[in-house]
Amino acid sequence: MSESVLQLRDFRVSFPTMNGTVQAVRGVDLDVGEGEMVGVVGESGSGKSVTFLGLMGLLPKTTVIEGSATVGGDELVGRTSKQMRSVRGKRIAMIFQDPLSALNPVHKIGRQIVEMLQAHQTISKQDAHNRAVELLDIVGIPQPDQRAMQYPHEFSGGMRQRVMIAMAIANEPEVLIADEPTTALDVTVQAQILEVMQRIQHELRTAIVLITHDLGVVARVVDRVQVMYAGRAVERGSVDDLFSEQSHPYTRGLLESLPALGKDRLVPIPGSPPNMLQPPPGCAFAPRCPHARPVCTLEMPELRPFGNGETACVRAEELVEEGVVSV
Ligand SMILES: Nc1ncnc2c1ncn2[C@@H]1O[C@H](COP(=O)(O)OP(=O)(O)O)[C@@H](O)[C@H]1O
Ligand SMILES: [Mg+2]
Repeated sequence: MSESVLQLRDFRVSFPTMNGTVQAVRGVDLDVGEGEMVGVVGESGSGKSVTFLGLMGLLPKTTVIEGSATVGGDELVGRTSKQMRSVRGKRIAMIFQDPLSALNPVHKIGRQIVEMLQAHQTISKQDAHNRAVELLDIVGIPQPDQRAMQYPHEFSGGMRQRVMIAMAIANEPEVLIADEPTTALDVTVQAQILEVMQRIQHELRTAIVLITHDLGVVARVVDRVQVMYAGRAVERGSVDDLFSEQSHPYTRGLLESLPALGKDRLVPIPGSPPNMLQPPPGCAFAPRCPHARPVCTLEMPELRPFGNGETACVRAEELVEEGVVSV
């Protein structure tokens, strides 16, 4: 693997509240190399968004962020909000599920990209405008010179997400975080947006994190997958390995709840994620896991090599013997 452009080590995010501390992210490691796309998947509430909002400096001031998150070797944890403003949009950019909320409704699309460029570069208005049109073209917006003169409401949902991607890559960031970028879009448009992201990955060599609750989305585009549950990584590996052999019962549960596997009935994982004010001791998935044994609750499991990837299931070898999982 090439050297990590984005690297997380024992990354933690917690929110002090009136009822106690919500331990949303509890020690996550992640590596994303240049030109690599990594999927971060997990049910709603597993800490996906909070991990990346946290390292971008986009969470409330009272949030406690610990551990390490580096971009190109430079530490982000501990920076002031002013220091983060010069990093965001320049070295690391993020796009979201709802592009409309991130666009200014009263400014033309072209102007918003120009402002993004001028926020981080010394560039003339004319050059910035030309670059904005070029960026709209890169993300596949037809007649980009005319579209640049239009307002967000004149764009469809898919076209708006393309605009968000254009803004995100405007300053050629090393890292692009896409948080459920296709969740609000219909399947055809979803595929188009994923194609745009792949083009950016390959042509601009951007390190991309694709966050999604939908394993079907990552299956199509990412190189590697990191599965999250209750603020921890429970499994990671190449996308092909993960779909052919899941070492962790949680990942297995996620796959079985996928509609696209030729089954006519979805099998959601029974139960619900833990209360992060008091995460369970040991494996957080144990209370919902059909294969849990007392050993699972003794200590918090770390990722360790297993098969071609890594697992946090302490019973992975036994589950192979029992025929529950295959490697
Ligand atoms: N500002 C906040 N204060 C307290 N808890 C929060 C806050 N933001 C998020 N959380 C909690 O953090 C956990 C992780 O949320 P999130 O990262 O949004 O999950 P997802 O994996 O769906 O993106 C959830 O339990 C959520 O309720
Ligand atoms: Mg989220």
